[in-house]
Parts: sequence; structure tokens; C-alpha cells
Amino acid sequence: METQITPSNEGIIRAAQLIRDGQLVAFPTETVYGLGANAKDAEACRRIYEAKGRPPDNPLIVHIPHRDDLSGLMRGAMNNQAERLLKAFWPGPLTVVVPCGGHISSVALGGLDTVAVRCPSHPVAQKLLQLSGCPIAAPSANRSGKPSPTTAEDVYEDMNGRIPLILDGGPASVGVESTVVDLSHEIPILLRPGAVTHQQLEHFLGPVTLADDSTPARSPGMKYRHYAPRAPVQWWDTDDVDQALTRWQSLAMPRERYGLLASEEIGRALGPALFYNLGDNDGAAAQNLFAGLRTLDRERPAAIIVVWKQSTPLGAAIANRLAKAAAPNPTGDDNE
Ligand code: TXA
Ligand code: MG
Repeated sequence: METQITPSNEGIIRAAQLIRDGQLVAFPTETVYGLGANAKDAEACRRIYEAKGRPPDNPLIVHIPHRDDLSGLMRGAMNNQAERLLKAFWPGPLTVVVPCGGHISSVALGGLDTVAVRCPSHPVAQKLLQLSGCPIAAPSANRSGKPSPTTAEDVYEDMNGRIPLILDGGPASVGVESTVVDLSHEIPILLRPGAVTHQQLEHFLGPVTLADDSTPARSPGMKYRHYAPRAPVQWWDTDDVDQALTRWQSLAMPRERYGLLASEEIGRALGPALFYNLGDNDGAAAQNLFAGLRTLDRERPAAIIVVWKQSTPLGAAIANRLAKAAAPNPTGDDNE
């Protein structure tokens, strides 16, 4: 199959037709690029798992154009607090898990009786949802286990030959995937940190539990390897230039063989052969993280070193992705 990259304004009509025909389309959202299919069409959803190489028990996020469309997908009703949360953050980088009550393919749900729903704010995602006329199941448009794509070129790298169309809407503005909060329990559970922070969730919902890897299979995706480029990743949790320099000078292999993802200041002090600027604040770091990992990885370094320390609540999302990207993978389980 030939994969076309088209500027989103030119390709959107064809994209909507492809979705209605049960085909896959990669499209931009404000968080990362998604790989979309009609969420009601089992065969179309199966194609997503195949193109990504994703295990069938890891459910997909279902995207809707408007907040009001949620009631048609869920069993029961939102309480007032959750209503206010969605009023504040939808459309935007927030996904809620609720009891499923709509006609979503069980393939998209990975066999669960809950559904994860998101209303994206990106104008191209909005337009595609409106023109397609169906909810769109869309995981991040990377091959399973790889960093999520934040540009159309990153999608092409992973999906060339596997899907007919990539809508190019430029680089994603947030850069890390949406916050996922499970509202199907008495006390909500934060399954994945994102641009909507734990503090913001608690402001609306009251206490919100943090899921960790010991929370048994809360989010099926949590048990799989994530965000990992080919090269092993080391995360140095510091923003201190001297500390970073000392570690850099005591590296085991010749320094030219390492890729460095860090602020410009640290880059200047360490003087690596291979460098990508992560930026000097958490907002920039979120935008640059996945692009940096992918860009450095193309140069085939022996390892990628990320020097970064959290300074704001948004940083929790970056720390979460970095910890997973740097996690050892002794079982060779290279799935998402
Ligand atoms: O920002 C985003 O959310 C992007 C864009 C494209 O919207 N999408 C995305 O999807 O990141 P994906 O499939 O890469 O990540 C979805 C996560 C997975 O960890 C999955 O296990 C979890 O959400 N998930 C989906 N449905 C769930 C459910 N019913 N219960 C618990 N977790 C669920
Ligand atoms: Mg993903």
C-alpha cells in the first residue's frame, strides 16, 4: 500500500471518506498524531491493531467532536463534578474512562466494559470527526512500543506502507498524550498524566488516586513497554550543569557515541557530537521529548541520555514517559 502525506486542508474530504469506508487515516491532534478508524466498525478497528502491532487487549481511545456526544457512548450519567471538569477541559488533552453504553466495537474496547473517550481541540481532528459522522477510535500513530509521533514525518517513519493517508497539520502543540482519568470508580484514578494535571483534576473531582504499576491492570496499556527508541535511554534527573558534566565525563563509552537530549545550557556545557534541544521549560520539553528521541535515534547512537528535571506540574507527564522510555526491558516485550 502506498502511503500519502497530504496537507490537512487538501486531504480532509478524502480522509473522512476513507474513515467511512472502514480504512485508516493518521491525523493531527493537539497532543500527538492519532491513527483513526470508525469506532463502530470492528474490521476497521482490527486494522488499527494490525498496523500498530498492538496487543488486542490494549483498548483504543474513542474521539468525539462535542462534549454532548459523550452521553450516547456511556452507561449512566456524569455526576456534577465530572460535568464541570469536562466543561473546563473539553475540547482538549483529557480522556475519561466511563462505563460503556454505546455502539462501540468490542475490538476497540479490547474486551472491557468501559470506554475511554476524548474530545480533541485540534481543528483538523474536529473537522475530521464532523465530516466522518462517526466516533473515531485513535491510538497514537506510532508502531507499538515506539515514541508517539508529533509530526506527519514521524508517522510516516512508522506507518509507511501500512495506511493509505496521513493528514499533515504541522507539529503537535502539547507533544505528550492526553491525561487519562478513570471515572468508573467511586474514587477517580489518574491512569496517565498529561497536560491536564493531577491538581487540576482534584480541583474539580476531589481526591484522585494515582495509578502505579502495582495497581492491577487498571489501564491495560500500562503493562507494556512504551516510548522506546532503538537506542537504550538513560534519564539523568537533574538540571544542575556541573552534576551533568561530571557524569558526562565519566561515561563508559567514547562520548561521540552518545546522543544528548537536554536544555541548550547543558548542551553547551557538555558539548556532545549529537544533540537535540529539549528546551528550557516543561512546556517546551513536552513538545520536544518524542521528536528528540526519534531524531537522535535516527543517528544510531549507542545510547540516548536525557538530562531533565521536573519543575512544574506538567512535568509529571514528561517524567512518566521518560521513566518508561528508560525502563530496562529484560523480557524483550516490545509492545505498547
Ligand atoms: O492524546 C491521546 O490520548 C492520543 C491522541 C491520538 O488522542 N491517543 C492515545 O491513545 O494516546 P493510545 O491508544 O496510544 O493510549 C491510550 C491509553 C492506553 O494506555 C490504553 O490502555 C488506555 O488509554 N485505555 C484505553 N481504553 C481504556 C479503558 N477502557 N480503561 C482503561 N484504560 C484505557
Ligand atoms: Mg500510544
